[in-house]
Amino acid sequence: MLIAHSIAELRHHLAGFNDHALVPTMGNLHEGHLALVRQAKPLADVTVASIFVNRLQFLPHEDFDTYPRTRDSDCAKLEAAGCDIVFAPSEQDFYPEPQTFKVQPPADLADILEGHFRPGFFVGVCTVVMKLFACIQPRAAVFGKKDYQQLMVIRRMVRQFALPIEIVAGETCRADDGLALSSRNGYLSADQRGEAVHLSKALQAMAAAVRAGATDLTRLEADAMTALSARGWKADYLTVRRQHDLQAPTPGDALVVLGAAKLGATRLIDNLEV
Ligand code: PAF
Repeated sequence: MLIAHSIAELRHHLAGFNDHALVPTMGNLHEGHLALVRQAKPLADVTVASIFVNRLQFLPHEDFDTYPRTRDSDCAKLEAAGCDIVFAPSEQDFYPEPQTFKVQPPADLADILEGHFRPGFFVGVCTVVMKLFACIQPRAAVFGKKDYQQLMVIRRMVRQFALPIEIVAGETCRADDGLALSSRNGYLSADQRGEAVHLSKALQAMAAAVRAGATDLTRLEADAMTALSARGWKADYLTVRRQHDLQAPTPGDALVVLGAAKLGATRLIDNLEV
């Protein structure tokens, strides 16, 4: 496995390969990321994983400075998963001057849910992903469904800019108790780790109610928020949306239940397709 520390080194390593598959990450890798790498492998001649903690997608009070940077162990895991090239640029190399050209996603998709609670988040995500696409020029890129809204935003970006990139969705990996794997799970204390599964349990209960024919979604969402709050969480949203644009559902839509809530200082997100 080759490691590129700069865009120039990356381009050097990529020369000679016809098609590239990309798995973008911010590092601190877990089994969920490695499953995306294994999914990417058959999609192209060479599999590239990027490791870059992207300052642009963090709000000033968020965990950019403390986000775990574990590059050596990440590289060992990527190599074992069959990754061919790791692109791990320094911030100085990736953003040698302030990144003032940005990708502005549409408000109807990107200013709701995560974008409402983390203003500017998807501008940061789209900008870094567009730049990663420019550097790597992948024929396919794999994004986890764990970040469901991110996947929908990237899909629409690729469609509207007519980028010749297949966006492939990876299923969410879960711990034995059902907690969605996330780098931020590492912030949880032992007690919080025990409690954390109740976010996915809340989503499961909502999905079961929808499947059983619940029609008052406002009530369903409010009750789920109240139940989670009673357990000590601070819920940002628990909501039923249609899958493709995350708007309020109309009859016949394919649905997804999405949630974000804070346990202590740690904010977790999860979702379930219904
Ligand atoms: O999902 C992530 O880890 C990040 O948002 C991404 C796609 C790597 C962009 O920084």
